[in-house]
Amino acid sequence: MNEVSFSAKNIGKIYHNLLKDDTVALQNINLDIKNGEFISIIGPSGCGKSTLLRIIGGLDSPTSGTLTYSGEENPELGFVFQDSVLLPWKNVEENAGFPLKIKKIETKKNMDNLDNLLELAGLADFKKSLPRELSGGMKQRVSIVRALSYDAPLLLMDEPFGALDAITRDHLNIELLKIWDKTKKTVLFVTHSIEEATFLSDKVIVMTSRPGQIKEIVDIDLPRPRNEETRNSTDFSKYNQYLREMIE
Ligand SMILES: Nc1ncnc2c1ncn2[C@@H]1O[C@H](COP(=O)(O)OP(=O)(O)OP(=O)(O)O)[C@@H](O)[C@H]1O
Ligand SMILES: [Mg+2]
Repeated sequence: MNEVSFSAKNIGKIYHNLLKDDTVALQNINLDIKNGEFISIIGPSGCGKSTLLRIIGGLDSPTSGTLTYSGEENPELGFVFQDSVLLPWKNVEENAGFPLKIKKIETKKNMDNLDNLLELAGLADFKKSLPRELSGGMKQRVSIVRALSYDAPLLLMDEPFGALDAITRDHLNIELLKIWDKTKKTVLFVTHSIEEATFLSDKVIVMTSRPGQIKEIVDIDLPRPRNEETRNSTDFSKYNQYLREMIE
């Protein structure tokens, strides 16, 4: 079974600084995420979004509170950062399959799956290309395929499309939803874009400014699959307006 759900209870994070007062980055975070949900996190800069994602991913530990996973004991995670961080001397295929090589799981099944993902991400014709031969959006797609390559049930994405132009971003949002629909992963997605959060998510977590707390969790009740029609609907605008007012 490749499933994951988790629950955060009263998570808090304090950073101790050398030359200034401590920073209370997170306070009282309570969160329940079900398997297969697409959750976005929005909130002002510095409110602790990346900190929360790192804690959930086990890259950092909370100063208080508990985090419990169910479904899998030690769920594997796929991470996609704001910057695609590809190895410049390796081609698309090698970069995307790098986790498989590191984990020594380059099985026929995994390599076939990698091929399918590259196809899904529109990279089939660029497998032998080097990162410098790709556009920003293509590089970001490689890093998404890389995060998906080892079939981790939980995908953590920290502003993965922040550096891209609006058109590429809209396009990749649709591609990401297609992949999500096929792979049924649990996704936690940090973004600064309200429209992006609404478009992608089942739920949007709105955080307050520092110390970061959860202000509200908004259910996005828009039909799936989502597409251009979604963006033009009045309900889509209503959600955006509601979220914008809450952040301001
Ligand atoms: N390693 C660290 N040491 C000390 N303070 C830190 C560290 N990482 C983050 N902080 C502080 O914790 C707070 C939250 O930072 P974080 O990076 O989680 O915010 P964010 O919501 O992701 O912001 P942004 O939207 O700008 O990416 C900030 O005040 C930041 O200065
Ligand atoms: Mg951040």
